[in-house]
Amino acid sequence: MEDRVRVMVVGGGGREHALVWRLLRSPSVTHLVATTPNPGFPERVHVDPASEIEAIVAVARRHEVDLVVVGPEAPLAAGLADAVEEAGFPCFGPRAAAAALETSKAFAKEIMRAAGVPTATALVVDPTDPAQLLAAEERCRRGRVVLKADGLAAGKGVVVCREGEEALEALRTMSRFGEAAARVLLEDLLEGPEVSLFALSDGERTIALPSAQDHKTLLDGGRGPNTGGMGAYAPCPLVDRQTAGAWVQQLHQPVVEELARRGTPFRGVLFAGLMLTEDGPRVLEYNVRFGDPECQALMALWEDDPVPWLLGAARGMLPNGEPVFAEGSACCVVLASAGYPETPRKGVPIPRGEEPEGVVVFHAGTAVDPQGRLVTAGGRVLGITGRGADLEEARCRAYAALPSWAFEGEQHRTDIGGGAR
Ligand SMILES: Nc1ncnc2c1ncn2[C@@H]1O[C@H](COP(=O)(O)OP(=O)(O)O)[C@@H](O)[C@H]1O
Ligand SMILES: [Mg+2]
Repeated sequence: MEDRVRVMVVGGGGREHALVWRLLRSPSVTHLVATTPNPGFPERVHVDPASEIEAIVAVARRHEVDLVVVGPEAPLAAGLADAVEEAGFPCFGPRAAAAALETSKAFAKEIMRAAGVPTATALVVDPTDPAQLLAAEERCRRGRVVLKADGLAAGKGVVVCREGEEALEALRTMSRFGEAAARVLLEDLLEGPEVSLFALSDGERTIALPSAQDHKTLLDGGRGPNTGGMGAYAPCPLVDRQTAGAWVQQLHQPVVEELARRGTPFRGVLFAGLMLTEDGPRVLEYNVRFGDPECQALMALWEDDPVPWLLGAARGMLPNGEPVFAEGSACCVVLASAGYPETPRKGVPIPRGEEPEGVVVFHAGTAVDPQGRLVTAGGRVLGITGRGADLEEARCRAYAALPSWAFEGEQHRTDIGGGAR
C-alpha cells in the first residue's frame, strides 16, 4: 500500500507549500488534496477548502486519504488529530493532549522535569494568588529572568529581562496576554546561540532530522521587531547530523516516552528550540509541528521518499534507519510585505519571477486578484529557497533569484544564513 498513497495536507502557508512540493515529488503519492488554497500549489493538487474540524474530516473521507499531514499548531491544539484518527485516518501531527507541549509552557516544563530533559529552571505562578505573586516579585528582583505567558500568545508572550526593575514591570503587564497569562513562568536567563532541532516520532521512537536556524527579527543583525521568521537555513553548522542524533535521544526521546507513559503518545514532528549554553544544549520550548520557514529549508534537502517516514510516524511504526538528506545546505529568504509585521500591505502585484536551477519559491501570503494578477495577501509573502553544495552556494542562489520576485515595498533581510540572528 505504501507505493500508492493518497495524502491530505492541512494548512496553506509557506510551510505547507513546502510540504506539498516535497510530497508531490514522492513516487508513492498518487493523489494530494489540500484544505487551504495557495496560489503556489501546482495544478496536480486538489484543493477542497475546509477550515472547521468536521469539514476537514469530511474532506479526508471524500478523498479516501491514507495520510493526513497537519502543518500548523492551531488545528492540532483544537483537536484535529483526535477527530481525524477517530474517523480512521492516520494523522501526522499529535492529538490535543500531546499538542499541549506547545500550547502550555507550564505543561512542557513539567514534562521536561519528569523526563529529566535539561532546560532553564523555572518558577510557575498564578499571578492572581497573592503568595505566588510575592514569590514571583522576589524572583524578578534578582534579575536575569525570562517571563513567559503559559499559553499561546502569537510569539509575543516572552520577555527577556536582565534587570530586576524591567522584570517587575514585565510581570505587572503580563495580564495583557489575558487567559494565556493565567499562569506565568519565570525562567533563569540562559545565553548562547539558538538552534531548531526536529525529530519525527511515532509515539515511542524518535528519529532526528537535520538541525536548522531561523532568523526572527525583521532587520539584519538581529535588529528590529520580532516576526514569524524572516528566513532560515539548514543544517546549522553548530549541530551536524551525528550531534543532532545524539541530542534528539537526550532532548526529544525522554519527552516522547513520558507522554507515552501518560497515555497521550506524540505522533508527528517534535520541534525543540534549543539554546547552546556553555554547559550544553538546553530546551527553551517545544513546538508540535515543523517550523516556518525552517520547513522550507528541510523539504528542499529531503532526498529519499518522505512518505514512509510521515506515514510510519502517523501509524505508530517508524521505519528503521534514517531519512536521507542532501549533503549540502538550503537557505530560505522571506520576502515580506510593506508594513509587516504591524500592518502588512495587501493587494500589491507580485512579478512572476524566476526559479532557476537550485531555487524553489514557496508561497506564504499570496492571492490571485480578480484581474488574475498574483498579489500580496499577508505579512510573509514568499520564501525564496536556494539549495547548494554548501551554505554559501545555497545563499547565493536564493539572493540571486530574489530581485526577479521583488514587489513594491517588499522587505527582506540580507544576512539570512550569515552569523547574526
Ligand atoms: N531561558 C531563556 N533564556 C534566554 N532567552 C530565552 C529563554 N527562553 C526564551 N528565550 C528567548 O525568547 C525567545 C522566545 O522564547 P520561546 O520559549 O521560544 O517562546 P515563543 O517562541 O513561544 O515566543 C527565544 O527564541 C529566546 O530568544
Ligand atoms: Mg520560540
